[in-house]
Amino acid sequence: MMKVNIDRNSGFCFGVVNAIETAERYLKEHDELYCLGDIVHNNMEVERLEKIGLKTITHKDLPKLKGATVLLRAHGEPPSTYQTAMKNNIKLLDASCPVVLKLQNHVFNGYKEMKEKDGQVVIYGKEGHAEVLGLAGQTKDEAIIITSEDDLRKIDFTRPIELYSQTTKGKEGFLGIIKAIEKKIKETGMKTEFIVNNTLCGAVSNRAPQLRDFSRQNDIIIFVSGKKSSNGKYLYSVCKETNPRSYFISTLEELQNEWFDDDVQSIGICGATSTPMWLMEKVAKAIENGVTGK
Ligand code: F3S
Repeated sequence: MMKVNIDRNSGFCFGVVNAIETAERYLKEHDELYCLGDIVHNNMEVERLEKIGLKTITHKDLPKLKGATVLLRAHGEPPSTYQTAMKNNIKLLDASCPVVLKLQNHVFNGYKEMKEKDGQVVIYGKEGHAEVLGLAGQTKDEAIIITSEDDLRKIDFTRPIELYSQTTKGKEGFLGIIKAIEKKIKETGMKTEFIVNNTLCGAVSNRAPQLRDFSRQNDIIIFVSGKKSSNGKYLYSVCKETNPRSYFISTLEELQNEWFDDDVQSIGICGATSTPMWLMEKVAKAIENGVTGK
């Protein structure tokens, strides 16, 4: 008998819960609410909220929405967004995650310090990611963004370096970057100052060991996440490493019959910090009822 298990540690982190609850509360009393960017990197959840009046807008749309109310999602925003809102009399419902706000403040102070020492602020994260834009905004966009070791050429290893990480990156990648920077500094033969700030969010990094256990305990893993989610990519790689029979899906239609061989006795369903529990439950139900896409 095949058993379907949902990982109860998966699903929204508190930052995402707060943003969604803020939107839902507002929409109980109003017909519509603008949200700057996707409220969460999960199309299924975005669609659900759009049905009750959430309207996703871009930064280009913002100045045109004079007098409107706009929700800022958990990723946080650079100072320029607050200035645009003020200039255009836009009321902000700020649902920036407190962990991100704290990091923004940290980066702002680090930038001031580095400026005095002719040093550099380096952020390990995805170029163009909303959170990274918000962090770089604290440094007048002077921060050096590095995604992989290839990007290390952007750094001057003879000048002070202060390193931060996007909250949702993986621990292994961050440690790799620290090692690579230390090596490059050594090669210069100088005693360059190198300050490391571990600013990974525990809501993501603490999930990795839990997911390793969960992946080990199930014959196959169905990882449910939006394709744009950074932590989704990372947490899926953790599952795949532990259990090669791990599959990534964003919608029910992507389930494939061939994954569910006769030897499969337990199926684990898990997801990212942006994956709604209702979606994981829907996937579990579909599998129990033998409904798969192909
Ligand atoms: Fe905040 Fe961490 Fe979630 S930074 S939005 S609680 S992943």
